[in-house]
Amino acid sequence: MRVAILGATGYGGAELVRLLRRHPEVTITAVYGHSQSGKPLAEVFPHLMDVDVEVEPFDASDAAARADVVFTATPAGVSHTVIPALLERGVRCIDLSGDFRLKRRETYRQWYGKETAEEALLARAVYGLAEWFADAVRGADLVANPGCYPTATLLGLLPLVKEGLVEDDDIVVDAKSGVSGAGRSPGLATHFSEVNENLTAYKIGVHQHIPEMEQTVTAVTGRAVRLTFIPHLVPMTRGILATIYARAKAGVTERHLREALVAAYADKPFVRVRPAGVVPRTKDVYGSNYCDLNAFFDARTGRAVVVAVIDNLVKGAAGQAVQNLNMMMGWPETLGLDLGPVFP
Ligand SMILES: NC(=O)c1ccc[n+]([C@@H]2O[C@H](COP(=O)([O-])OP(=O)(O)OC[C@H]3O[C@@H](n4cnc5c(N)ncnc54)[C@H](OP(=O)(O)O)[C@@H]3O)[C@@H](O)[C@H]2O)c1
Repeated sequence: MRVAILGATGYGGAELVRLLRRHPEVTITAVYGHSQSGKPLAEVFPHLMDVDVEVEPFDASDAAARADVVFTATPAGVSHTVIPALLERGVRCIDLSGDFRLKRRETYRQWYGKETAEEALLARAVYGLAEWFADAVRGADLVANPGCYPTATLLGLLPLVKEGLVEDDDIVVDAKSGVSGAGRSPGLATHFSEVNENLTAYKIGVHQHIPEMEQTVTAVTGRAVRLTFIPHLVPMTRGILATIYARAKAGVTERHLREALVAAYADKPFVRVRPAGVVPRTKDVYGSNYCDLNAFFDARTGRAVVVAVIDNLVKGAAGQAVQNLNMMMGWPETLGLDLGPVFP
């Protein structure tokens, strides 16, 4: 399978190159960038020095001639301008940005402050939360790869809301991300001396991943929900830890909560429900495509608590995108993703 990557000079794109260079069914035939076009990829990323390709400016006809599948790992507002031309030329697309995740254009405008694709194309895009929408992903020609925070949050939350173990009207998600979640472009918010030994909440109640999570809970349960979602920036490079709080329904115990997680992911290779009482940590999944989960019950307050961890660049971006490629092509879901976590 010939594969091209647009945005290969960014963190998500570089992680795609790292994973796909060892994928047994894939050859990387082109990598495209923007401001860094013209350089060898190894000059941009010395850790990829054994990948002998040059970063090129993107052109849809060129990409269609050289690739069967194109991954787009570009900032919000870019991929919707290039994907229609690729689809017209019969190229399958997996988009790591938010451009195709929301079904309503107006919702995208409201939360991203930008334009995106026509609603017919948004309807054609399959939301690639692989563990929950496998049937739709198989055979799709356009996959919207989920956001990093939604991946951790939804994998933890969906089993509980689907099984009706918690009330829908009081769900709080408190999530922390490493700084690579903000991408490679330098900025004050990700400056070492501002991030190091600092802990910051940001975009309280206005983060663009909120409608994505609410839309997906509705898609699974048929019920409208409102989530309180508070992201935090933590001084580490990779990793997301999401703690989800919800009022448990009467009679629900930790055993019921954990059983719902275990049942939902019994045959899912990348979701690991930890033994009772074990709290997942970001380093348990670092560099891997795993999401580690556990559920707890705070008997004093009647709250269900789920802790979910992922590596934002792997399960939260490039790894899940490769998982989606595998499923689109009918290959084993785990192909090219046998990545043991790096510890410590
Ligand atoms: N970082 C994460 O943990 C994470 C997780 C999940 C999803 N995502 C999403 O994935 C996408 C990429 O994120 P990232 O962290 O990899 O960002 P990044 O490090 O900032 O990389 C952005 C890439 O897009 C290219 N680019 C920028 N503007 C462009 C334009 N107008 N046209 C074409 N290419 C353009 C850049 O090329 P040059 O370097 O050559 O200028 C670079 O290759 C974003 O939408 C992000 O929200 C990121």
